[in-house]
Amino acid sequence: MSFGYGEKRILNSVSFAIVKDQVIAIVGESGSGKSTLMNILAGLFLPDSGLITLDGINMKEIDRNHFQKKIGYITQEPVIFDDTIYNNVSFWDKDTDENRKKCKEALNKASVLEFVESLENKEDSRLGNNGVMVSGGQKQRISIARELYKGIDLLLMDEATSALDSETELGIQENIDKLRGQVTIIIIAHRLSTIKNADRILLLKDGEIQASGDFEELEKHSIGFKKMVALQGF
Ligand SMILES: Nc1ncnc2c1ncn2[C@@H]1O[C@H](COP(=O)(O)OP(=O)(O)OP(=O)(O)O)[C@@H](O)[C@H]1O
Ligand SMILES: [Mg+2]
Repeated sequence: MSFGYGEKRILNSVSFAIVKDQVIAIVGESGSGKSTLMNILAGLFLPDSGLITLDGINMKEIDRNHFQKKIGYITQEPVIFDDTIYNNVSFWDKDTDENRKKCKEALNKASVLEFVESLENKEDSRLGNNGVMVSGGQKQRISIARELYKGIDLLLMDEATSALDSETELGIQENIDKLRGQVTIIIIAHRLSTIKNADRILLLKDGEIQASGDFEELEKHSIGFKKMVALQGF
């Protein structure tokens, strides 16, 4: 499919498949069209030409509201509210036994349940300014749990360009690895270390897919990718 904002062509004959429950990473220079591509996948924009199908159904025919309920979107600067863990995850959903169970399951899938259970007040512990101090990686896990609580199938992550400390970086890589197979993940990555284990990496250049494959394949066959790897000092 192709897409432009007005006259300006941003994505040019981009074609690829996403397999359910796999991890797909999008990399490329600033302005290459990564966020635009992700917004199209989220159903925010329709392609100008070409086709997106979901289980063989044209995306145009799929109810957008229903589709978007199945999508979670998280950034590397997750929002944590000055409230309890339960409210942070359930988004102030009614406090029932059933929802408590759902919250626990989401925390577990997001690999943060153990941490929460180690706290004196468990899910009722407060986060934020007057609460428990959590690391960048833990904040992200809480925000992943918030998305999983909604019962999503597709998790979109747009990694911040700002430099992350190596501990947070490792945390993010672990978070992605642990979610593997539970939801489909599409991640825009600036730090290649976070997507080492992605099933497929798409390298975007000027709105086209310059190369695609797993990390090892790209390292072998893509000069552009090799350059990125070298720049980041692998
Ligand atoms: N709403 C918009 N209207 C017009 N042009 C836009 C809009 N959003 C993005 N663009 C342009 O589209 C191109 C691709 O932008 P996009 O945000 O997809 O890049 P990106 O790969 O995500 O970059 P970065 O790594 O900096 O986040 C850029 O040239 C940008 O200026
Ligand atoms: Mg972007």
